[in-house]
Amino acid sequence: MNYNKKTVYDVDVAGKKVLLRCDFNVPQNKETGAITSDKRIVAALPTIQYLLDQGAAVIACSHLGKPVATFDSFVKKQVEKGKKAEEVTRESWEKSLRKLTLAPVAQRLSELLGREVIFAADTVGEDAMAKAAALQPGQIMLLENLRFEKGETKNDPALAKKLASMAELYVSDAFGTVHRAHASTAGVAAFLPAVSGLLVAKELSVMGKALDDPKRPFVAVLGGAKVSDKINVINNLLEKADTIIIGGGMAYTFKKAQGFEIGKSLLEADRLDYAREMIAKAEERGVKFLLPVDNLAAAEFSADAEPVLVEGNIPEDLMGMDIGPKTVEIFSEAVKGAGTIVWNGPMGVFEFDKFAGGTKAMAKALAESGAITIVGGGDSAAAVEKLGFADKITHISTGGGASLEFLEGKELPGVACLLDK
Ligand code: 3PG
Repeated sequence: MNYNKKTVYDVDVAGKKVLLRCDFNVPQNKETGAITSDKRIVAALPTIQYLLDQGAAVIACSHLGKPVATFDSFVKKQVEKGKKAEEVTRESWEKSLRKLTLAPVAQRLSELLGREVIFAADTVGEDAMAKAAALQPGQIMLLENLRFEKGETKNDPALAKKLASMAELYVSDAFGTVHRAHASTAGVAAFLPAVSGLLVAKELSVMGKALDDPKRPFVAVLGGAKVSDKINVINNLLEKADTIIIGGGMAYTFKKAQGFEIGKSLLEADRLDYAREMIAKAEERGVKFLLPVDNLAAAEFSADAEPVLVEGNIPEDLMGMDIGPKTVEIFSEAVKGAGTIVWNGPMGVFEFDKFAGGTKAMAKALAESGAITIVGGGDSAAAVEKLGFADKITHISTGGGASLEFLEGKELPGVACLLDK
């Protein structure tokens, strides 16, 4: 996949209307709707500021959550959840949509920019069209949630065309959604010249370089609960990395594949053959493939469970919850002297303090490694931030699913649609 894409620096934006796709899919408090982290809004500021400073008129757009765009589909979903169709009201559907308005994002963006952000009450309706037509150079507006339009996730060309009709240039700065082939992330590029914003450009250059031309040794640290989520990542990285470190819940399926007993630990029995294949592939290619040699285990999956240190086999009545101290030593040693380290997925149940030690130790090892360090994926990024090592990491990706698909080596529709340099 070609990551060498034109950016906002390669085109003339002065006096132009620019449709700017952002990823303002921010976490919100379920009760109050308050934004609980504005990181994604902050991450979009450099591009917005650049465009405004250059005299562009910015029409920003984003999705928020997973609204159901039509009443019929809403009824269908509620019925699947066990409700009777006749009990599902239009009011409850409208209420679910109101919860996902981008109005609070417009307000926060306005506070961060220190200027007015004009908010459109719809996405491609009368209000949006009128406000976009009246928008002046140096002004910014935000469209209402893209997924209120049923054509968005279907990549409907009619919607893409309407979005494009408001602007003269398309800028993609929504790295978190480049793995989606939606009307606003890919379809729109058929109707407008399309370039990347500064955030997407940074993500592509740092992660693209790590995959295509890494400073070696290249070490991949992979964790998280499920092998099935990381199948293609492991497969792709086995062709590129010098060392692969496996921790987290998925390590137990690999341990089982090696013949160890894993007690009540997470096991994906249908992935055992795959795990054996990967271990064999690593051997064939001369890639070091490191698995935990000891674990902190517990009798139950609970924050209060008493940690029990086990080496080798895990007894029948226990489940692995974190990597143990010997493993921490081996893994930390393996990242020392690395040129590039990519980390995706925690080493244990880091949400529980008693089982956060392994993830914390790996975050520290990365921070002290002196290597180019890249953290991708929602959970590992959250872990690094929660544990206070964020400022010692070269790059923390803003993409969850997107950075995972990037590591899988998949073609990303939101990148493929941009103009090549
Ligand atoms: C994310 O939060 O990972 C992105 O905004 C993509 O959201 P989606 O999974 O709803 O497409």
